Amino acid sequence: MEQKGITLWFTGLSGAGKTTVARLVEERLNREHRLRVQLLDGDVLREVMNRDLGFSKEDRFMHIQRAAFIAKLLTDHGVIVLASFITPYQEMRDYCRRQIENYAEIYVKCPLNVCMERDVKGLYKKALAGKIDHFTGISDPYEEPVNPDLVIETLAETPEESAERVIQYLSRQRSIP
Ligand code: PPS
Ligand code: ADP
Ligand code: MG
Repeated sequence: MEQKGITLWFTGLSGAGKTTVARLVEERLNREHRLRVQLLDGDVLREVMNRDLGFSKEDRFMHIQRAAFIAKLLTDHGVIVLASFITPYQEMRDYCRRQIENYAEIYVKCPLNVCMERDVKGLYKKALAGKIDHFTGISDPYEEPVNPDLVIETLAETPEESAERVIQYLSRQRSIP
C-alpha cells in the first residue's frame, strides 16, 4: 500500500519533551514499520537554515512559516513528518494547520515548574538570571493550545509510553498501514 503523508506537529514548552518523544517515534516508525519519516526540530533548523532568526514574535513566525513549508512538501510526497517546535502562539499553529493538508497537532504538556526543574540545557537558569531575552514561559508567552488532536502529559508517563500513544494515534488515523 502507498504510504500516506502526515505531519505531526509537536508543540510545548522548552523541556516538555517534544524532541525526546519525536525521536522515539521516528525510531519506532523506521525500525518496526519501515516507514519514511523525517524529523524537523526547532534547534536543528535554527542551526542549519534559520541562523538569521531570533526569538521575537516576528522571527518565530518566519521560522515556523519556513518549517511549515518544508513539512508541507514532505507530507505531499508521502512522508511522515515529525515537527518539534515550541510554536507558542495559537495563530502560528492555526497557520500550520491551514498550510498542511494532513496535519495533527500534538500538545506535549508539562507544567512550567517541572520543565524548569528538568532544565535539560540549562536555559531556564540563564533566562531567570536575565541572560536570555524572550524566553518562553519566563519572559515570553506560551499560549495553551485550544484544539490539539492529541495531548501527551509527560509529567505522568515515561518517554516510551508517550511515544506509544503517538504510534497508537497514527494507527487510528490509518497512517500506519
Ligand atoms: S519557536 O518558538 O517555535 O520558534 O521555537 P523553536 O524553533 O522550537 O526553538 C526553541 C529552541 O531554541 C532554544 N532557545 C529558546 N527557546 C525559547 N525561547 C528562547 N528565548 C530560546 N533561546 C533559545 C531552546 O533550545 C529551544 O529548544 P527546546 O527543544 O524547545 O528546548
Ligand atoms: P523539548 O524538546 O520539548 O525541549 P526535551 O525532549 O529536550 O524537551 O527534554 C525533555 C526531558 O524530559 C528529557 O530529559 C526527558 O528524558 C524528560 N522526560 C520525562 N518524561 C518524559 C516523557 N514522557 N516524554 C518526553 N520526555 C520526558
Ligand atoms: Mg527540543
